[in-house]
Amino acid sequence: MLKVKDVKKKFGSKKVLQGVNFQAQDGKITVLCGPNGAGKTTLIRIILKLMKQDEGEIRISTNLKNIGFVFHKDILFTDITLKENLLFFTKVKQKQINKEILNKYLDLFNLKDDYNTKLSKYSSGMKRKGELLRVILEEPEFMILDEPTANLDPLVKVEIRELLMKLNSEKDITIFMTSHNLDEVEKIGDKILILNAGKIVWEGDKKILENEKIDLEKKFLEIVRGGENG
Ligand SMILES: Nc1ncnc2c1ncn2[C@@H]1O[C@H](COP(=O)(O)OP(=O)(O)OP(=O)(O)O)[C@@H](O)[C@H]1O
Ligand SMILES: [Mg+2]
Repeated sequence: MLKVKDVKKKFGSKKVLQGVNFQAQDGKITVLCGPNGAGKTTLIRIILKLMKQDEGEIRISTNLKNIGFVFHKDILFTDITLKENLLFFTKVKQKQINKEILNKYLDLFNLKDDYNTKLSKYSSGMKRKGELLRVILEEPEFMILDEPTANLDPLVKVEIRELLMKLNSEKDITIFMTSHNLDEVEKIGDKILILNAGKIVWEGDKKILENEKIDLEKKFLEIVRGGENG
């Protein structure tokens, strides 16, 4: 379980996070959305302890080493092959490459023929799949993903969405992710959070959206256009 309590962060005089509160349950997919500059990436950096909050508390029920993360920007090296990258990153995590998992996902991602190709020759979608493969091979308990499907074509977006749902349901991996794609958010999110003006201003799930006939895009626009609290 990830518990974020009254987290505040400012840069100079700019108050980015102004008391963020929420919980992401184990075994579920929690999706954080919010406009550009809302502070989603800042919050992820704080959760991963890459940056310190000014106030508030983060509790996470797993050790940091059991967390797999994908940043907004790819971190794999582009001047070496996918194979070399995966060898390096699994070594960093003190793991060995699980051949069965590797072959399964190389197949699924259609990357088998390019396993020994330098990443500088990859398209953005291929690199993104490589990033996810890196995380999957780390066999994490918890995945923290900052816009894992950004800049991908619709087909790859759907493939990655389905993959994340599968990892969640079959391997019981807890996922906390951000996304700007509200259609995707609705489909994948067990819990949906909207961050605006420094706070979580709306929290819901598929059931609430269905039962209350809420159009997520409409809700999002209402909140973002309406100023502070929607
Ligand atoms: N290291 C930093 N120094 C100063 N300002 C920062 C720093 N990091 C982030 N910011 C500011 O904090 C705000 C939130 O940025 P952040 O990247 O967290 O937003 P985001 O919600 O991830 O946006 P996006 O949807 O565009 O990825 C922005 O106004 C940004 O300029
Ligand atoms: Mg961001």
